[in-house]
Amino acid sequence: MSTSLSFAKSPKAKSDTVVVFAADKGKLLPQAAALDKKAGGLISAALEARTSFKGKHGDVVAVILPKGTGYKQALVFGLGDPKKLDALTYENAGGKTFVALKGIAAGSVTVLFDAPKEGAKEAEAAAAYASGLRLRDYNFDKYKTKAKKDKNGDSKKTEGLKDITIVTPANTAATKSYVEYDAIADGVVFARDLVTEAPNVLYPESYADILVKQLKPLGVQVEVLDEKKMAKLGFGAHLAVGMGSIRPPRVVIMRWNGTSKKNGKPLALVGKGVTFDTGGISIKPAAGMEDMKMDMGGSAAVVGAIRAFAKAKAKVDVIGIVGLAENMPSDRSYRPADIITSLSGKTIEVLNTDAEGRLVLCDALTYVQNTYKPSMIIDLATLTGAIMVALGYEYAGAFVNDDKLWSQLEKASKDTGEKLWRMPLDQAYRDEMTNNVTDLKNLGNQGRYGGACSAAGFLEHFIEDGTPWAHLDIAATAWMKSEKATVPKGATGFGVRLLYRLVLDNYA
Ligand code: BES
Ligand code: MN
Ligand code: ZN
Repeated sequence: MSTSLSFAKSPKAKSDTVVVFAADKGKLLPQAAALDKKAGGLISAALEARTSFKGKHGDVVAVILPKGTGYKQALVFGLGDPKKLDALTYENAGGKTFVALKGIAAGSVTVLFDAPKEGAKEAEAAAAYASGLRLRDYNFDKYKTKAKKDKNGDSKKTEGLKDITIVTPANTAATKSYVEYDAIADGVVFARDLVTEAPNVLYPESYADILVKQLKPLGVQVEVLDEKKMAKLGFGAHLAVGMGSIRPPRVVIMRWNGTSKKNGKPLALVGKGVTFDTGGISIKPAAGMEDMKMDMGGSAAVVGAIRAFAKAKAKVDVIGIVGLAENMPSDRSYRPADIITSLSGKTIEVLNTDAEGRLVLCDALTYVQNTYKPSMIIDLATLTGAIMVALGYEYAGAFVNDDKLWSQLEKASKDTGEKLWRMPLDQAYRDEMTNNVTDLKNLGNQGRYGGACSAAGFLEHFIEDGTPWAHLDIAATAWMKSEKATVPKGATGFGVRLLYRLVLDNYA
């Protein structure tokens, strides 16, 4: 994290910028009103002058303060309708505050926190707000060679934003509640860093090494299957995808067992980790191919969630499994018309080498079911362009074979703002993926139409009857060209928050 965050009972003697809050119609909350009084009514005068400020969620006004207030300037932040102030709204407020503070090079910052009694409780609200600040405070500048300090010695990363102290009477409870948010944010940042990393640096082998180095010290058991082990076990579909690249594929299996139980049935999280998807012999067009470094976004969500569970010492038993491969064209590549045998024994005719994600996932799904008999499975994958056609950038598609699991996912989705839209699983889509020469083929019959559904139909062939399973197609949401309150442009870390909430609320 670039900017340090803390909670305190009372304000420091002085700091550069103070953040205070207003609600709808510009009504100042108590700490804001008290500061206004101290400043001789300057703040309310500024709000009167700046008629565009309505106190709506995310409205901001900066006001220069007189000496004697202890601050150089105030940032008045609109929280909107107090009745709508749940934890997620506070988190978004934190994210938007961060952007506003950067915009005014806020220096050292004191937040005079106020939570109207209609909304979330003060401690939880303050922790959620801090989480929003932290989630938005993300950039990836490890490859910038210029000095990272400006002439005042400030880190350029934070652009003049030094530290943030959130002042609340509930500081002790907020500090405690923030520990979990911080663990989750750690997982989100881990996922974003992996997705943003360049594909010449992050490839199956180096990715596996990172997971071992980063997760083992947190108490996660990490096992890596190399290509030899994979061949011995029969990962025929996954190996076919990785064959064209000089960088061989890997499977990484992680277990966070935070329960005392030794023989319980774990949950399983499965991620597509294609570190670069050229399309292979069915090669993609040049324009935009660089985006395909994010084709391991599903795996990043899985390892980010595992990291969050471990950091939070969550009392859950979860297996994470990621299938890592680079999809490249070469003289060694798999090709259209190849017939391959998946780990399940099911044979697959390859009709398009660009439909590789399902081939990586099917073996990981089989492996995790055979080895761990999980009580529930969620896979995440940047699987199809078709899901982007269907839902745009707002929602990830959720294909779920169990209504109870869907209701849990829907709740977690609403609570975290990581939006899911339920999509259909159907016998017709499963049938579409069967073939005359082999058991299955990796392409549906309808061209691009319904491509996300037929991909899900393919995966469903690998799920054992009676196992609750959700497939989340995150092709659109793993990488964003526009920003959200707590998510800067680029890698989003989508799925980490969702998985964490889902698991903690229903399986702890
Ligand atoms: N990785 C892509 C899907 C994708 C597209 C992710 C855009 C993120 C952004 C996947 O491997 C793919 O190429 N899918 C094909 C499937 C088709 C060949 C059946 C697609 O969606 O076009
Ligand atoms: Mn592809
Ligand atoms: Zn892909």
